[in-house]
Amino acid sequence: MELQQYYTQNRYSEHMVNNLAIESPAHAFDLGLGNGGLLLATKRRWSKINLIGVDLDQENIYKAKLNSQIDAFEFDGFRPDLPEIINKKYGNIDLLVSNPPYFSCKLDTDIISILSEVGMMDCISKNCQSIPAELVFLAQNLRLLTEKGELGIILPAGLISGERWKGIREFLFSEYNVVKVIQLPTSSFKRTDAQAFILILTPKSTNSDLVLSHVDYSGEFKINLNDAIQRSDYIYYRHFSECRVNSKIIDDFSIFRGSLTHAKLKNDSSHYIHTSHLENYASELNLPKSPSSDGVNTMPGDIVIGRVGRRCLGRVALIKSGHVPVSDCIIIVRANSPSVRKQIWNKLKAENAKNTFYDLSLGVGAKYLTHNIVRNYIQFGS
Ligand SMILES: C[S@@+](CC[C@H](N)C(=O)[O-])C[C@H]1O[C@@H](n2cnc3c(N)ncnc32)[C@H](O)[C@@H]1O
Repeated sequence: MELQQYYTQNRYSEHMVNNLAIESPAHAFDLGLGNGGLLLATKRRWSKINLIGVDLDQENIYKAKLNSQIDAFEFDGFRPDLPEIINKKYGNIDLLVSNPPYFSCKLDTDIISILSEVGMMDCISKNCQSIPAELVFLAQNLRLLTEKGELGIILPAGLISGERWKGIREFLFSEYNVVKVIQLPTSSFKRTDAQAFILILTPKSTNSDLVLSHVDYSGEFKINLNDAIQRSDYIYYRHFSECRVNSKIIDDFSIFRGSLTHAKLKNDSSHYIHTSHLENYASELNLPKSPSSDGVNTMPGDIVIGRVGRRCLGRVALIKSGHVPVSDCIIIVRANSPSVRKQIWNKLKAENAKNTFYDLSLGVGAKYLTHNIVRNYIQFGS
């Protein structure tokens, strides 16, 4: 089994603990305690707190026992009997802290029973064969959460802003009181550039707005439930917040994406446009007249944007002439008038556009842009 031992640096453990609202918790519990960093940070804030941690790695248990501040024992976090065991041994736990392992695991009967108990199975597609381990750890923590309890958990970008897990966000934001989502820098964990977030939640009380913040920036944003379900990453809202107030909205354009795969285009068409044809600078392209009958074709005046790929994401080109089929890795922006086209092209060819698209893109590793990101950038971006 993967252990994914990316430990939370002290700075981020402290940040999580300082953002918890609970007044004087009696017990803190960490599912996957690692080197105990999160638990020890709670002890620095509340000196009388009892620390409890479990881990699958015997070495971590051995080290925690040497330190003697943590009551640690070996336990597999995927076991459905976790709440019974913990509650029998320690009673109710009022503070839960966690930085789960991030990997994909098989959706087996144990995991189904864990997710079902909290109501998460309803948000998961019937065809799903595997599931992120962090969702299972989140569900286990929710099973342990008490009426007056609080949970601080570090989750990856997919759950906070990815399109695939919108249903989970809808569930979390409507069934619990998600108080804060705090964005961490991409360099937060050694040996990985995974983008992660601290999420702080309590049981449902009144409906309140969600507060977004970032460890490295001052200022917060309050967003409503609908926006939070779309995405809850601070950087996204920060980017558009000032521009929303100041900008004159450009809306006379359509956005769509190419429809044919690169493999099919390579096989069937002598002329087509794919991300690898886009230069690293904003370029203007004269293409042949070679449309395809079954795909989306370019029109003169179209602006094409690389939708995926580390190197090609956010590359742009203006089609000066020609009709060729477009690959599904490309987003097309078609303006309804020359003046709107000029405004859009000026924004998209700006020096900072590519970097901004990279910051706003979704996905870990395989980054991608959505129509919404591009639309918002055109309408409100700078
Ligand atoms: C990302 S690390 C976080 C450790 C620590 N909580 C921290 O914040 O630094 C995840 C931890 O979960 C442990 N782990 C992985 N799979 C586990 C499982 N099935 N049951 C219990 N612990 C597990 C790993 O050994 C590792 O210590």
